[in-house]
Amino acid sequence: MAGGPVTQVRNMLTGFNAVFALDVGIDTGLVDNLAAQEPVSLERFVNSTEMHPRHVGAWLRAVQAAGVVEVDKDGMARFSPGWRDALTNPDSPDYVRTLPGCYAAVAGVAYPRFAGLFKSQETMDWRDFPKDVIKKVYADGARFGREFADEVVPVIPGLKARLESGIMVYDVGCGDGGFLFRFAEKYPRSNCLGIDCCQAAIDLANEGKSKIGRQTKIQFTTQMIHELPEAQADLIVLSEVLHEVGADKRGDLLQAIYRTLKPGGVLFVVDPVLPDSHEGYLTRSAQHLAMMVFSEAPLVPDAPLTRKDFFALLKAAGFDQSLNEVGSSDSYLTAWVVK
Ligand SMILES: C[S@@+](CC[C@H](N)C(=O)[O-])C[C@H]1O[C@@H](n2cnc3c(N)ncnc32)[C@H](O)[C@@H]1O
Repeated sequence: MAGGPVTQVRNMLTGFNAVFALDVGIDTGLVDNLAAQEPVSLERFVNSTEMHPRHVGAWLRAVQAAGVVEVDKDGMARFSPGWRDALTNPDSPDYVRTLPGCYAAVAGVAYPRFAGLFKSQETMDWRDFPKDVIKKVYADGARFGREFADEVVPVIPGLKARLESGIMVYDVGCGDGGFLFRFAEKYPRSNCLGIDCCQAAIDLANEGKSKIGRQTKIQFTTQMIHELPEAQADLIVLSEVLHEVGADKRGDLLQAIYRTLKPGGVLFVVDPVLPDSHEGYLTRSAQHLAMMVFSEAPLVPDAPLTRKDFFALLKAAGFDQSLNEVGSSDSYLTAWVVK
């Protein structure tokens, strides 16, 4: 039946395949090649790639179908408005190059195991993933680092000056360090410490460290994040971590963070938050969140917190100052709070 479930599934597959097309385009260099030549005729583009002409043609039509590329009536291809920056300019607020690879990597390794994990009631751990997958999954964290360094720091009173003069920054659950690199480069007098229990992530972080400026003071350590020293940090970043910790351990983690912060220290937190009501699931952003929660369900021990529960947990940990949200959406909390 036209417009029925068959069409709906095809529509779903279009989005699913668009993610893969972007990922392949980035991995093969097709995206960068197009960026370097646009506008370019289909024929010339295909000939410039030294790849199978049929594959490249199919790729171009797929990214056109996804709305990423436009092909005009003369057969000239160029990125649709906004996409060139989104895929090739790390300084752009729309930069999204790392996100398709993140989902494609999870899909490739974890999805084939999902049905088994659902039935066995077990969960996978990021530590079960090979390093090349970890690399793609974590690469996306750098986006938050850029946003934080460029957009959030200036609105937290006094923080920029403190960072410039040199303070201690902890990134708790730092993944591959993408968040800290941008940050450490921008504030080279501050000391940055990234902590994560995933060895593959810390290995990637140390590899990344060797590529950035020598003058930056940045260290990484493989360690559980509940084991933090007392009163050491002036700023703690907790990016995309709380929802990955078992619900019974989230309170302990926030208490450990509270203890590690010096008085007047700042906690910056980024995490998905579930809607507090069923109606809350009807927004587009909550629909995106529902898909993300599904894609991570067998990989993490519990569902994300609701916003209300999040606030209550922060308060119980000792944070009695008001929480300041910056650029949050109804399904993503981006906030800072002072000890
Ligand atoms: C989704 S990643 C976020 C990485 C990075 N902060 C970012 O924003 O991209 C969550 C990280 O938290 C780490 N993690 C979760 N629970 C942990 C624990 N109990 N101790 C240490 N690391 C933990 C995981 O290994 C993983 O690297």
